Amino acid sequence: MSRLIVISNRVSPPAEVGNASVGGLAMALSAALREENGMWFGWSGEVAESSGQISIQKIGGVTVALTHLEEQDVQEYYNGYANKTLWPLFHYRTDLVAFERSFDEGYSRVNQRFADTVSPLIVEDDLIWVQDYHLIPLASKLREQGVKNRIGFFLHIPWPAMRVLMTLPKHGELVETMFDYDLVGFQTEDNMHAFTEYVINQAGGEDLGDGRLRAYGKTIQVGAYPIGIDAKEFVEASRSQTAKDYWDLMRDSQAGRKMIVGVERLDYSKGLEERFTAYDQFLRDYPQYERNVFLLQIATPSRGEVGAYQDIRGKLDTLSGHINGEHSTIDWVPLRYVNRSYRRDELAGIYRAAHVGLVTPLRDGMNLVAKEYVAAQNPADPGVLVLSEFAGAAAQMRDALIVNPFDREAVSEAIHEALSMPLKQRVARYEGLIHGIMTEDVVSWRKNFTNDLKGKPPVKKPEPLV
Ligand code: ADP
Ligand code: G6P
Repeated sequence: MSRLIVISNRVSPPAEVGNASVGGLAMALSAALREENGMWFGWSGEVAESSGQISIQKIGGVTVALTHLEEQDVQEYYNGYANKTLWPLFHYRTDLVAFERSFDEGYSRVNQRFADTVSPLIVEDDLIWVQDYHLIPLASKLREQGVKNRIGFFLHIPWPAMRVLMTLPKHGELVETMFDYDLVGFQTEDNMHAFTEYVINQAGGEDLGDGRLRAYGKTIQVGAYPIGIDAKEFVEASRSQTAKDYWDLMRDSQAGRKMIVGVERLDYSKGLEERFTAYDQFLRDYPQYERNVFLLQIATPSRGEVGAYQDIRGKLDTLSGHINGEHSTIDWVPLRYVNRSYRRDELAGIYRAAHVGLVTPLRDGMNLVAKEYVAAQNPADPGVLVLSEFAGAAAQMRDALIVNPFDREAVSEAIHEALSMPLKQRVARYEGLIHGIMTEDVVSWRKNFTNDLKGKPPVKKPEPLV
């Protein structure tokens, strides 16, 4: 049986993911790898004097191979090119993009080092699956080492429109490296089309049909593989004793008030500033909710060494203080703003206690919180999901209340509509959503991708340009 080798920057084996807010990628992969004869390779999260060593261990049923990074790598590759250049660019925040040649060099250097470190572990027939924007050029570095295995790439974040991508210096070189994969997967059809548009109009490539694209003398397969959650596990978590305890805790502290919940990493792409402003608008628009509702916003600090993350954190501190100062009464606080993370079973209980799930990113590859919120609901008395049209999840979750997160009045109206929705309509919307969540889950995501990856001819030969 061939092995699946997953390579990502962030490695969070199952033992850890229950406890921390590690993001959607780690949640999805730890679930996928538990079922595969696989190995997960990536950065340990630690900084070392020298890099290139590897430690292999078995954690939670998964073989994990970890390597350290040097301080300069962390600054130039992780904080730099990945999170100051590509992340804001791919989330359409060109105003936040910083580009420095040292970032570019660091990105290339760490991808090279990953290739050098992992290639001795690869044997014939291994299927290699590279994850996310940190490692786009990894396949081309592996090919230079002579690796002929099938290599797939999945992008967890959005692929931007052509003109946005073109603001990146050396955008063509980055895209060219993607043609060393056999299969490139995106979260949505939209993302895949944006990539195709670039390939045709900028790279002079050709759409060969059936998901095949040809450019730079090579042919790759592309596809949309919307990622799901470990739905069964999450439904079980929502029925656990811990979830019940958290549900009780929330209910007691609600004192009959309706609860709106938001859960995310503290990231500017999640639209938290706009959400707080919309909630402020809602409290003004609908004074009947005074003392009858509250918003619980859980936002775990993320990428704290990057300036834009420090800035958004400061803004949210100020804004939350302002909203509570403006609207609170002596026995009511309308916004509970919490900067910590919760275990999955705790989170499930919190979601279940909330009448509204507010998921309003300005851009998001998929957004797993939207799916988790629905999976945790009581089918007989479910809450309502308010979802941004700019989350990848909106393409699948049409029974949510879909909003434009930039339109604070529309978000305010949607909160009101959700809070006042009759049971029958809530149940109908829930039923429309839960089926997709249970069937298009993380297992089917992994199987669809790896099956398509296996389907390709094993050895990749450059094809002559016609
Ligand atoms: P992203 O990958 O950008 O962080 P997603 O919504 O796709 O966004 O995935 C986030 C994952 O991290 C979800 O599984 C969510 O439950 C988890 N998560 C986010 N914030 C927290 C938190 N404060 N506590 C616990 N888990 C969190
Ligand atoms: C998103 C990205 C992941 C990343 C996660 C957490 O989900 O797509 O690649 O791992 O955020 O971010 P971090 O920088 O802490 O790994």
